[in-house]
Amino acid sequence: MKDVLILGIESSCDETAAAVVKNGREVLSNVISSQIDIHTLYGGVVPEIASRKHIERINQVVSGALKEAGVNSSGLDAVAVTYGPGLIGPLLTGVSFAKAYAYALSLPLIGVNHIEGHICAVYIENKELEPAFLCLVVSGGHTHLVRVRDYGEYELIGRTMDDAAGEAFDKIARVIGLGYPGGPKIDMAARDGNPEAVSFPRGHGLSEYDFSFSGLKSAVLNYLNTCEMKGEKIVAADVAASFQKAVVDVLVVNAAKALDNFGDKRFAIAGGVASNSLFRSEVEKECLGRGVDFFVPSPVLCTDNGAMIASAGYYKFIKGEFSSLSLNGVADLELCPG
Ligand code: KG4
Ligand code: ZN
Repeated sequence: MKDVLILGIESSCDETAAAVVKNGREVLSNVISSQIDIHTLYGGVVPEIASRKHIERINQVVSGALKEAGVNSSGLDAVAVTYGPGLIGPLLTGVSFAKAYAYALSLPLIGVNHIEGHICAVYIENKELEPAFLCLVVSGGHTHLVRVRDYGEYELIGRTMDDAAGEAFDKIARVIGLGYPGGPKIDMAARDGNPEAVSFPRGHGLSEYDFSFSGLKSAVLNYLNTCEMKGEKIVAADVAASFQKAVVDVLVVNAAKALDNFGDKRFAIAGGVASNSLFRSEVEKECLGRGVDFFVPSPVLCTDNGAMIASAGYYKFIKGEFSSLSLNGVADLELCPG
């Protein structure tokens, strides 16, 4: 079969990213322009600023991806783009660019769900991985426990009832003065802290596999306020380590329950929080103990990138699932509608 080269474009939050991927799993280029430095000034992503920066950067990021891949636009087979979920302004930048690019070059257009992109990131470095498997997607906007039945076929078995795990990392990092983005900062600070120093609650959602992080977030805020009122010293590393352990415990308990009840022999984690060192090692332990194969992308493929979108686009391409030029951004796009 002829090789299929897909250009993947991602702009759902604060990374302007483009990549060229061959046959869904071979990354020829992966260019990511992060806006972290700008949003750090505000302690979080400012949607209007993010949209403007995407507009300024998308041309160079796409040309950079083609150049790095050593292909020109005539060598591409399709353009895949994230169309949701995410911030609507940033999504529209990528979608508008991809539509114009595909139209100008007479290439098929493929709209990709961002969460599906995170799941497909796991295929890239694990050439042997095929569905079915369980995947826990944990990012700044989502905490989804998903059964991947086949390529493009998903069953949502659990999700957060309130905050996403990454969102909780970002908020707590901000209040303990570690800055943005919180996940990597807490991960680092926690290495010097005691995870048993403060006892924070482990919240679960309504159903067996759901998650909840808002109670934990409030408990950390209460703890900090109480310390302040009593004039007690706050040890940021201990708070970071205790908070991180609480988040990871909740994620791992649900993952372990799903492994026991569904009996899958393959388990993957994906999304920005999957770069967390404690989360990676704790899930790996659970998998090893059950004789389950564990898969996790390298950190650069856990956080937002264009390669995961190109990979997801490939599996739609081979099924002939193309989008029309009326494709629009959908801020609250579901992985499994209805
Ligand atoms: O997947 P992603 O790049 O964007 C979304 O789709 O949301 O995930 C970003 C999230 C942020 O909340 C960030 O704090 C978190 O992933 N994150 C981490 C780590 N690296 C990134 N959380 C915990 N530990 C990390 N090492
Ligand atoms: Zn993401």
